[in-house]
Amino acid sequence: MKLSLRFIVPLVLVLAALTLAAMPLVDKLTLRWFTKDLDLRASLIASTVEEPVQHLESDPDALRAYFARLILDERLFAVGYCAEGAVRPEGTSTLPPTIRCDSASMKSTPSGRVVQDAHGSLLISAKPIRDARGSRASIVVVQDMSFAERRNEETRRYLFYFFVALGILVSLITVVVAQLSWRGWVQGMRSLLRGEGLLRPASRTSIGELQPIADDLRALIRDLESEHHFRDDEQLVWTPQTLRGILERELRGSDVIVVSNREPFIHVREADGGIAIQRPASGLVSAIEPIVRACSGTWIAHGSGSADRDVVDAHDRVAAPVEAPGYQLRRLWLTPEEEQGYYYGFANEGLWPLCHNAHVRPTFRSSDWEQYERANRRFADAVVAEARTSDPVVLVQDYHLALVPRMVRERLPDATIITFWHIPWPNPEAFAICPWRDELLDGLLGSSILGFHTQFHCNNFVDTVDRQLEARVDRETFGVSYRGERTLIKRYPISIEWPPAPALAAPSVDECRALVRARHGLPAEHSLGVGVERLDYTKGLEERFRAIERMFELYPQWVGRFTFVQIAAPSRNSIEQYQMYEQRVRALVERINARFANRRAPAIVLLVAHHDADEVYEYYRSADLCFVSSLHDGMNLVAKEFVAARDDEAGVLLLSQFTGAARELPEALIVNPYDADQCAEALDLALGMPLRMQRARMRLMRALLQEFNVYRWAGRMLLDAATMRRRGRFLARGGQLLKFTRAADAPARARAVGRP
Ligand code: G6P
Repeated sequence: MKLSLRFIVPLVLVLAALTLAAMPLVDKLTLRWFTKDLDLRASLIASTVEEPVQHLESDPDALRAYFARLILDERLFAVGYCAEGAVRPEGTSTLPPTIRCDSASMKSTPSGRVVQDAHGSLLISAKPIRDARGSRASIVVVQDMSFAERRNEETRRYLFYFFVALGILVSLITVVVAQLSWRGWVQGMRSLLRGEGLLRPASRTSIGELQPIADDLRALIRDLESEHHFRDDEQLVWTPQTLRGILERELRGSDVIVVSNREPFIHVREADGGIAIQRPASGLVSAIEPIVRACSGTWIAHGSGSADRDVVDAHDRVAAPVEAPGYQLRRLWLTPEEEQGYYYGFANEGLWPLCHNAHVRPTFRSSDWEQYERANRRFADAVVAEARTSDPVVLVQDYHLALVPRMVRERLPDATIITFWHIPWPNPEAFAICPWRDELLDGLLGSSILGFHTQFHCNNFVDTVDRQLEARVDRETFGVSYRGERTLIKRYPISIEWPPAPALAAPSVDECRALVRARHGLPAEHSLGVGVERLDYTKGLEERFRAIERMFELYPQWVGRFTFVQIAAPSRNSIEQYQMYEQRVRALVERINARFANRRAPAIVLLVAHHDADEVYEYYRSADLCFVSSLHDGMNLVAKEFVAARDDEAGVLLLSQFTGAARELPEALIVNPYDADQCAEALDLALGMPLRMQRARMRLMRALLQEFNVYRWAGRMLLDAATMRRRGRFLARGGQLLKFTRAADAPARARAVGRP
C-alpha cells in the first residue's frame, strides 16, 4: 500500500499541474481556431454578396434591407458596406458606431479583429470587393463570438474530466504493476529487457541462457520503433534528402544497385567527330535517375550509344550525371545478336504487345528467348560483380529483365531484390499466350518485392501465378510463397521529380508561348496543343489525330486558330510494326493537314526527332492543352510532367482513361481515345475553358504531384525493403532461439531416457 502511495501521490500532483498548465493554452488555441474559421466565413460572405451589392449600392434602403435579411443568421451580428472614400459604412442598425471605413485598423486587419462590446465579444472583418464601377470597396462583417466563449468553457470542462480519468487509469495500472513487481517476475522481465542483472553470467540462476530471448525482445522493440518512424515518414515532404535519410537510417549504408536495359544517358558520335550526350525518351529513365542520384548507387545498363565505349574506364564505368557526378553508371555490352533477340525480339515483339491491349499480336521465337535468357544472365552477372556486400539492395527494372531476380537470388541469397514492372500486367488468359510463361514467373518470384503501378496490375499478376504455378497465394497480404520464399506484390504508383529541375522552368511561360509560336510561324494568340511520346503504337497517335480531325469537323471555328504539335521520338525502328506505324501516322497527318490547314496555320505539326528535356518543357509551357491518348499505359509520366511544368497553373490536360495516371489525376479531362466524338468535345471544352477553372484543376493536380513525387515512390519501396530485412533478421534469430531451446532441453531429455 505504501509502495502504491509512493507512486500515486506524485503522479496525481503531476497530472494536476499539467491540467492547470494546459488550460490557458487550450483557451488561446480555441480562440485562434474560431477566429480563423469565422474570418474565412467573412471572406465567403463578402464574395457571395459582392454581386448583389453592386446592384444595390445606389439604393441605400434596399442595401440595408438586404443586409438585415443576412443577419437573421444567429451568429452574424452586423453587416456594412464601405464604398470607395466613404467614412461610415452603410449597413444594419446593429453596426457598432465605432466602426469607420477610413480608420487604419479597418484597412490593416486582413484576418479580423476581436473587440469587446456591450453585447460581448465581436469579430470585425473587413473584406475587399469591387463596386459596380470596378473600384475598391469593402464589406464589413461583424460576427458574434460569445458562442466561442461558451465552447471554450465546455472544452475546459471536458479536458478536466479527461485528466481526472487519465489519473485514475494510470494510478490503477501503477498499483497493479507495483503489486506484480513486489511478487518478483516483472522485475525480472524489466531487467531482461534492459539486458542487465539476469544476463550476468555470475547470476545465481543459469539465467544468462535467456540472452537470445532478450535479444529478440530488444529487436522487436526496435522494429516497433521503426514502424513508428515509418508512420511519421508519411507526414514527410519527400525530397532527395528524405530518401538519403531513409537509406542511412533504415538500410544503414546499404549497397544500392539499379539494373535496367535503358541507360540514363547515351554518348553519341556526331558527324563532326565530337561526342554528344542524349537523354533517352523513357519514362523509366526519367523516374529512376533522380533516385540513383539521391542514393549514390550504381546503375547497370546496356551501353547502346555509338560513343559509349569511348568514355568508360577500364571497368566499363562512367561517373554520372556528367555535370555533377553522384553515382556510377556501369555499361554492359551486348552483341548485335543478343540485342536483336533479347531487346527487339523477345522484349519488344513479344512481351511489349503481350502486356499492352493495343491490338498488336505478340511474336515469340525460341531463338529470341535464348538470347533473352543469355542477356538476362549477363545483367545478373554484372549485378553480382558490382555488389560490394553479400546483401545489397538490388532494384531490377522492367520487362527486359524478368529473369534477373531469380538469377541474382541464386548467387546472392541475402540480397533484397525489388523488381518494378513499368508496364501493365495482362490478365491470366492473355499472359498464357507466352510459351515461356512459367519461366518468366519463376524469374520474377526471385524478388523480395514486385511492384506495379496499379492495384489492377497486382491483381492480374497474382491471378496469373495462381493459375500457372504451384505457389501459395495469400490474398490478404498479397504475398506469394514459391520455392520456399515469399514475394510481396505491391502497388507503387510511379511519379516525377518534384519540384522539376529549376532549369526546366527557366524561360517564363510567356517567353515559351512566344518562342514556340514564332518557331512554327504561328500568330501570337494562336491556340496550341501538344503531345510528347515515343513513336509507339500503344500511345494512340492515330486515335489522337482522328479526334483532332473530328474537332475541326464539329467545331469549324477552330480551323486556322488551333494547331497541335506532336513531338514523336523515334523508337525501336528496326521492328516492322514500328516502321508501319510511323508510315501510317505520317500519312494520317498529311491527309488531315491537306483537309484543314489554311494559310494561317497547319492543323498538326509532326516532329519526328529526339528532343531534350528542356525543349520538351518549353512546349509544355507554351501550350493551351496537352493530349495523352494512350491505348494502354502502365502510368504515363508525360501527363505528370505537363502538370509539373505549369507553375502558372494554366493549361488543360486531356488524359486517356486507359493510363495509370488517370486514377491519380481525375481533375484532367478523362477521355476514351477510341471515342473520337468524345475526344473532340473535350478538345473544344479545353480550348474554351475559363482560366479560373483551369487553375482550380491544375492546383489539385499539382498538389497531388508535390505530395506523391518520385522520391516517395522509391522511398516507400525502400522502406518496405527495410522492414523485410529486419523481419528476415528477426526470424533468423528466431531460428537460433529454436536451436537454443533444443540445446537447453537436451540434458533434461537425456535424463528422461536415462542417458548421462
Ligand atoms: C517504356 C518502358 C521502358 C523503356 C521506355 C523506352 O517506358 O517501360 O522500360 O525504357 O519505354 O523504350 P526503349 O525501348 O527506348 O527503352
